[in-house]
Amino acid sequence: MADAVVDTVTPVPVAVVGAGPAGLMLAHLLGRAGVETIVLDTRTRHEIETTHRAGILEADAARGLVETGVSDRILLDGHEHEGVELRFGGRPYRIDFKKLVGASVWLYPQTDVFIDLAEARERDGGTVHFGVSDTEVLDITTDAPRVRWTASDGTRHEARARYVVGADGSRSMCRDLVPEGRRVRYGKEYPYAWFGVMAEAPMSAPELVYAHSEHGFALISRRTETVQRMYFQCAPDEPVDAWPDDRIWETLQARVAGEDGFRLKEGPIIEKTVLRFRSFVQEPMRWGSMTLAGDAAHTVPPTGARGLNLALHDAKVLAGVLLRALGSEGAAALADYQPRALQRVWRAQNFSYWMTRLLHTAPGDTPFDLRRRLGELDNAVGTRAGRTFLAEQYTGWPAGAHD
Ligand code: PHB
Repeated sequence: MADAVVDTVTPVPVAVVGAGPAGLMLAHLLGRAGVETIVLDTRTRHEIETTHRAGILEADAARGLVETGVSDRILLDGHEHEGVELRFGGRPYRIDFKKLVGASVWLYPQTDVFIDLAEARERDGGTVHFGVSDTEVLDITTDAPRVRWTASDGTRHEARARYVVGADGSRSMCRDLVPEGRRVRYGKEYPYAWFGVMAEAPMSAPELVYAHSEHGFALISRRTETVQRMYFQCAPDEPVDAWPDDRIWETLQARVAGEDGFRLKEGPIIEKTVLRFRSFVQEPMRWGSMTLAGDAAHTVPPTGARGLNLALHDAKVLAGVLLRALGSEGAAALADYQPRALQRVWRAQNFSYWMTRLLHTAPGDTPFDLRRRLGELDNAVGTRAGRTFLAEQYTGWPAGAHD
């Protein structure tokens, strides 16, 4: 296949595999600096637009979308949140981000970030091919890597690049191109998953509610005034069919119930999915002329809402590094990428792991484990240091902070 005849050959400075937030944001930032890209994705634009993902953006990331000219829709359709609520032992505790660390986050679903980025690429004349198949990435240990793909009309194409970026998500094929003996994969599986629902119901709370109960975790988020996003902890192999609406509401109500009488406003459930997750990092994030960005290099459990933010941070750091590499510095500039991206990745890995374990119950938990967890929750909300830690981690860290 590597040398088979193709219908077109296009030279381009950077070829990007994957049109999720990392790949498209990178293409957008490079495009602003006058560098052309070709972005490929096996999924159709419609498929990506209709896949529900998490929805929290750090203020810096939100500002980045507006200030780099992607779109200012987030200011109209997004919601700034200055805190979250933690509930456990039947009581609510508010973590006031603004007061504790002077920061906030934006509730703006990843699907909307994708829509904005895809529209910005179209508006700016960037090349993005959706719905491709048989993608091959070749010659990444040379300074003339190539990417080949079959377009949705069956024609075969080749991009001759100087650099290739693997931004092809949590089931990345690009990361497999780093030879087995030269890469390390760090990972952690969890003995639970999230049952995610979309409900046609009014909002139940002004801010996100992260609830821990003896029955397990629940998260109350939202999408619009009339559509709410909620999750509850379930077994990784939980059959969706075993969950009629009544049982879902009963479970969610039990997990958020408390002495304040808090109750969720109910309505028809229009979508149900079991979402499995894990913690994962592959190092190195660069091999020859290829770099990895976003979920292709690292994934986090959704509990700390870090995934999308990490992807956008990778894109920002990588855009700067690639611009230098395409300029007078050459490939040596790529050496700066991993250290600058990875510090934030491991901070986020720690926070996501910590928050996941803090709020979920695990099948083999002993009475000691359960009681100790309540002590940990009490430390997190009942001490200034605990609240400040949570607020600082949840709202992100300033870009390039090495403090
Ligand atoms: C969501 O709104 O889908 C959401 C919010 C916060 C999370 C995870 C998911 O931690």
